[in-house]
Amino acid sequence: MIRPVLRMGNPRLLSQAMEVTEFDTPDLHALIADMFDTMAHEGGVGLAAPQIGIGLRVVIFGFESSERYPEAEAIPLTVLINPELQFIGDATEEGWEGCLSVPGLRGLVPRYQKLRYAGYDQFGMRIEREVEDFHARVVQHECDHLDGVLYPMRVRDFRQFGFSDEIVLTQEA
Ligand code: NI
Repeated sequence: MIRPVLRMGNPRLLSQAMEVTEFDTPDLHALIADMFDTMAHEGGVGLAAPQIGIGLRVVIFGFESSERYPEAEAIPLTVLINPELQFIGDATEEGWEGCLSVPGLRGLVPRYQKLRYAGYDQFGMRIEREVEDFHARVVQHECDHLDGVLYPMRVRDFRQFGFSDEIVLTQEA
């Protein structure tokens, strides 16, 4: 079921989400199905449970190809619950981000270039991956939602933040 996505300004997007304690339950499967329906409907590359008003540490992400990020390399469709992030090195990279909770806007955001992430899928199976670049960026963006952080809070230069359709030329320059 497609669920409404909360937009920036809604206080629920600013809360700390709670750990999932039970896996492979009907409620958890229903939540994840709704998240995938909603992400597909909105054309996003990731979604965090708090964005549909559920304060649990659940994120999904992944795509074969994305209209929002046409240059990006594919990321396998992933369910990541109770994520743990460990950054590798200090290298950061600026990249353009948008968010379904901040519709119509884009901003240039610094993120760690490389990281290791771990967590569980909806069945309680352990996931561990080492990733970089856009995959690492998406994971950091989605996991930020679990701590009440939206990407505009990380934008450093507000000249590099604005409406997507106005930014296109700058982005391609
Ligand atoms: Ni987002």
